Amino acid sequence: MATKNQTLGEFIIENQTEFKYSSGELSRLINSIRLAAKVVNHEVNKAGLVDILGAAGDTNIQGEDQQKLDVYANDIFIKTLTNREIVCGIASEEEDDFITITGRNKKNDNKYVVLMDPLDGSSNIDVNVSVGTIFSIYRRVTEAGTPVTLEDFLQPGNKQVAAGYIVYGTSTMIVYSTGHGVNGFTLNPAIGTYYLSHPNMQFPVDGKIYSVNEGNYVHFPQGVKDYIKYCQQEGEDRPYTSRYIGSLVSDFHRNMIKGGIYMYPNTAKDPKGKLRLLYECNPMAYLAEQAGGKASDGFKRILDITPTELHQRVPFFCGSKNMVEKAEEFMQKA
Ligand code: AHG
Ligand code: MN
Ligand code: MN
Ligand code: MN
Repeated sequence: MATKNQTLGEFIIENQTEFKYSSGELSRLINSIRLAAKVVNHEVNKAGLVDILGAAGDTNIQGEDQQKLDVYANDIFIKTLTNREIVCGIASEEEDDFITITGRNKKNDNKYVVLMDPLDGSSNIDVNVSVGTIFSIYRRVTEAGTPVTLEDFLQPGNKQVAAGYIVYGTSTMIVYSTGHGVNGFTLNPAIGTYYLSHPNMQFPVDGKIYSVNEGNYVHFPQGVKDYIKYCQQEGEDRPYTSRYIGSLVSDFHRNMIKGGIYMYPNTAKDPKGKLRLLYECNPMAYLAEQAGGKASDGFKRILDITPTELHQRVPFFCGSKNMVEKAEEFMQKA
């Protein structure tokens, strides 16, 4: 039972038994994530004061220039999870390959793998705009005690046991689900404690906000162009409002609270879209569905896609159920 102003620590303990595999391992894992998030939050907040802004000088496997905070957040999350020997494997947007965690005695009986986008919206770091972290958790499918394999990471999103994000915004929040709805906790930075501020978050069934990088309009598929025109036409509650931050986490967070749709379609330049299925789309799709929303690649459910590679990309349409269905209708008509 979610009670307002409960701390995240209290909430985790109280709700531990609701989880079907309940051994305390998942709770300890969420605990490690909230700890790492506090460390990253501290660094993000003082980014303008210390030498943490700007490019790190390397390129990641996605072909993107890594920002210093991309590298920092990646290291913190990996170290926090590795030191606690709480997972058996990690995959990250910033790592070429998955990481196998063998543990001090070269054996690892942990059941879970974590996939993450350690710093989402990194183009916004230098301009003091909200960024985030996204995480996705699965039970391994290979035998416990053996090293993890690619198979443990290439599971469809409908197999996630938990997912969530941290938004480093005007306040820092952790929003997550273990399959029993979505709850949001706000950090009180003075005492380093997260409080349940947004119990049982729900996507409004309809919304009036559309979020898409319209600079790419000419390269969008016809169905997306038609849907954008529909959003802009006069109608009962249209034209809709356009809002695009350029940080998936922040755009999703606003749309979940206010009602809206986020779109990152395929374009001529990026025929599979830009967003990563495993680190971005699956966890957000899981949260969307847990909150009564919807997530699609324009034609089918994101969570039913069987991944074939770690850094796979996919077109992404996510948000209020009726809005995503309307966008799909336009895609299918075109
Ligand atoms: P990341 O910073 O983790 O690489 O993700 C960036 C993603 C996502 O957060 C955002 O919605 C999108 O890229 C923005 O892309 P455009 O600048 O092409 O609109
Ligand atoms: Mn990136
Ligand atoms: Mn991202
Ligand atoms: Mn990222």
